[in-house]
Amino acid sequence: MTVVATTDQPLTEAEVETIKRDFPILAQDVNGYPLAYLDSGATAERPTQVLDAERRFLEHDNAAVHRGAHTLAALSTDAYEDARATVARFIGAAAPTEVVWTANATDALNLVAYGIANASRGRGGVDAERFRIGPGDEILVTEAEHHANLVPWQELAALTGATLRWVPVRDDGTWTAEDAVALIGPATRVVAFAHVSNVTGMVAPVSAVVAAARANGALTVLDACQSAPHRPLDVQQLGIDFAAFSGHKMLGPNGIGVLWGRAELLDALPPFRTGGSMITTVTMEHSEFMPAPERFEAGTQPVSQAVALAEAVRYLERIGMHRVRAHEEHLAQRMLDGLAAVPGVRVVGPPAGVPRSGLVSFDVDGVHAHDVSQYLDAQGIAVRSGHHCAQPLHRRLGLVATSRASTYVYTTEQDVDRFLAAVGEIRAYFGATDA
Ligand SMILES: Cc1ncc(COP(=O)(O)O)c(C=O)c1O
Repeated sequence: MTVVATTDQPLTEAEVETIKRDFPILAQDVNGYPLAYLDSGATAERPTQVLDAERRFLEHDNAAVHRGAHTLAALSTDAYEDARATVARFIGAAAPTEVVWTANATDALNLVAYGIANASRGRGGVDAERFRIGPGDEILVTEAEHHANLVPWQELAALTGATLRWVPVRDDGTWTAEDAVALIGPATRVVAFAHVSNVTGMVAPVSAVVAAARANGALTVLDACQSAPHRPLDVQQLGIDFAAFSGHKMLGPNGIGVLWGRAELLDALPPFRTGGSMITTVTMEHSEFMPAPERFEAGTQPVSQAVALAEAVRYLERIGMHRVRAHEEHLAQRMLDGLAAVPGVRVVGPPAGVPRSGLVSFDVDGVHAHDVSQYLDAQGIAVRSGHHCAQPLHRRLGLVATSRASTYVYTTEQDVDRFLAAVGEIRAYFGATDA
């Protein structure tokens, strides 16, 4: 890849073509058409550099980390910790030890929720008292959350007797800072919300929510699944306490995710999973746990995945995250303009002019979302259809399912234009025209 960030301008088409050539999977035809992959919001494709990094590690260095004294164990441990430092730098963490490897974002969010549940049951001693919650306390989420950032909080409420509250969404699926701030008070102990919605593309008003949470002593947990891969992310600047994201959505492998947390919080939070690699001493009656991040990394670790994720981060850094964002916003605008011209198509999400990310969810009147995606797939265009793990949001919008087109660094204007042309044919094909 020869693209190097020099401006904050959207990528040129020539640059995108150069990037696209790094992704072997995108070179194929699907159903007789060149693949237009518009499902990166679900999982992103991987460039050769990332595939090669994982393979090189497995062919030369692979061993269990933090255990053996042999050469490969030392090489693996160095690579694993270098990867942690790379991800820490990418998100502006204060130190690599603030980065905990998890299986994915879902796992990271569960780690925080069940850590708080364990603290609430008295685990973690005096250090963990700050996390204890119970009846009378409140956990705040939004009605737009992915199930990964809703169900663990429902469970935490059920386990502790705390009350789960949520910021309501409006008719377009968005929520406002005012509505969120109005729900944050002295009883609020946790505020968990997505930085960027995986359905509406809405960018959350982080600073207003964090200010209100901090003023009331509540912890903030940011689901950064749809932001870390697509826009600059600086966890310290945002003022949040925890952030979670997945490797597979940012050109990296499956099976690895990240929990970032403030060092003093991670060191005080009781572990969620226990076992080998996370203890200092074990007797038959009792165990002492290591500080973070090891206290949360029980068992044999996803080392090659961490190495590959770090390579994905370097790949994104070479492009420049400002340019990644600008490219996707440019494509999203092209999609929005094109869909606005198609009769019977309703886009969910922020109104024109309000910031949004590079994904667009829409409903085609009279045609089920699964039929929409099948019609597009027949032309080699991959989009996601369903409730996108956000059933409450879809219920509120009065929709069973939507279709979602999502972009990334390798998405071309031509991909978007083919998508728009095909969407324009759908209602006629299914006999759903108003005429
Ligand atoms: C906003 C958001 N949160 C959480 C998740 C869960 O990610 P994972 O399945 O990788 O744990 C996703 C994935 O679609 C998402 O888009």
